[in-house]
Amino acid sequence: MAIEENKLKDQLDYRYMTESDLEAVLEIETLSNPFPWTEQNFIDCLRRGYYCLIQTHSDGVSGFAIQSIALDEAHLLNIGVSSSKRRQGFGTDLLEKIIYASEAMGSDQIFLEVRVSNAAATSLYLDFGFKQIGVRKDYYRLPEGQEDALLMSKSLKKDWKNRFFNN
Ligand SMILES: CC(C)(COP(=O)(O)OP(=O)(O)OC[C@H]1O[C@@H](n2cnc3c(N)ncnc32)[C@H](O)[C@@H]1OP(=O)(O)O)[C@@H](O)C(=O)NCCC(=O)NCCS
Repeated sequence: MAIEENKLKDQLDYRYMTESDLEAVLEIETLSNPFPWTEQNFIDCLRRGYYCLIQTHSDGVSGFAIQSIALDEAHLLNIGVSSSKRRQGFGTDLLEKIIYASEAMGSDQIFLEVRVSNAAATSLYLDFGFKQIGVRKDYYRLPEGQEDALLMSKSLKKDWKNRFFNN
């Protein structure tokens, strides 16, 4: 299992998103959400200097994530993996990179919202130690009506000594 995980890690690369990635990103986004972000939403994130990450595999773009970081709080605004790559560890690797970046940029905590019906993403976040801290009523649009969001957060421990040393 560990060897397979390492094999996938060796096959993944990361770079900062540019406008030339938006076609691939929008393809993932439109297949993932009933009310997907528009191209302009992604451009706004790039222009605001949010942390916009592209994950690539041999076939091209396999995933993306967007995070805003303000002082000691990070907010994961969007994350998606290509539908043909799901359930193979791509999302796990991407989220690891996002959490690492939040810590490296000095955040104490990372927040996110997830649709109450999004069992896949909720399960991924729980695996990473995110905890539900609230519900945002009618936060997301649906073709008919609205859907609540779970507000989740994870504390980022800047416990450098124990991360790098055993003594
Ligand atoms: C959420 C998402 C990013 C997960 O990516 P992924 O590459 O499939 O995730 P992984 O393969 O690394 O899975 C990690 C864990 O997530 C959970 N998970 C992923 N897909 C799942 C599914 N369909 N059902 C239940 N749990 C699931 C599992 O706990 C899984 O661990 P396991 O495989 O050991 O059981 C992906 O499903 C996606 O892009 N969804 C559409 C966009 C979206 O919902 N974004 C989140 C917005 S808040």
